[in-house]
Amino acid sequence: MKTILDFSKMKTNKEKISMLTCYDYWSAKLLSSSDVDLLLVGDSVAMVMHGYSDTLSATTDMMGLHTSAVRKGAPSSFIVTDVPFMEFRKSKSEVVETARKLMAAGASGLKVEGALGNLEMIRFIVDSGVPVMGHLGLTPQMHNQLGGYKVQARKQAEQEALKEQALQLQNAGCFALVLECVPAALAKEVTQHLQIPVIGIGSGSDCDGQVLVLQDMLGANSDFKPKFVRSYERFSELVVSAANHFVEDVKDKSFPSEREMYT
Ligand code: KIV
Repeated sequence: MKTILDFSKMKTNKEKISMLTCYDYWSAKLLSSSDVDLLLVGDSVAMVMHGYSDTLSATTDMMGLHTSAVRKGAPSSFIVTDVPFMEFRKSKSEVVETARKLMAAGASGLKVEGALGNLEMIRFIVDSGVPVMGHLGLTPQMHNQLGGYKVQARKQAEQEALKEQALQLQNAGCFALVLECVPAALAKEVTQHLQIPVIGIGSGSDCDGQVLVLQDMLGANSDFKPKFVRSYERFSELVVSAANHFVEDVKDKSFPSEREMYT
């Protein structure tokens, strides 16, 4: 299993880090036999797998259930699990219980969106033995506050604030940082200034690594294609075509054949 020390080494050696989201046993089994460096049980699971319109409906129970499925499919992968919306704003003992549940479900570390108001709790959770990954830029849990899903930190003052928050997260003990949808030049600057690895999504090529949602990377969602996504397959077409082929064979009675029956 790769560890946070390996990710740090990869940054030092300028070896790019690859992360994909993973929500279930089936895909975890497949990804664990791939070369991907770490898996993210993102709260995007609420949208991608449960059909909610945003990530705010993800709960600790939902994240725990998906984490435990991923852990079963990928027993030796480093798995990061998202802390759901508002869970990190609860009392210290409640946050500790959330962190305990997600780690017991199989997470190797947790991801927390945003820096403002979270730093003290991040330090406490890190000191309790939990690797924490930060997340700045477009933080989807805050889309109502941000006025939608759009590129962040275009203005000078916003860029200065983001750089400051990135440093604060590093100082609070985060082992890595996700930087989502910020201008590439800003991502490059943050990546160069931080000692911890910066994993980008929609933030250009100079980050220490890249993350994509697995279903976007597979082309499983034909009606969602933001500029920063590269789809390596056309999974949606593959699934519809296979399903139609099956229906055809059932209707014309070519399935099941003799070979597919018990005599
Ligand atoms: O929940 C998620 O999938 C994420 C990635 C987009 C980084 O946080």
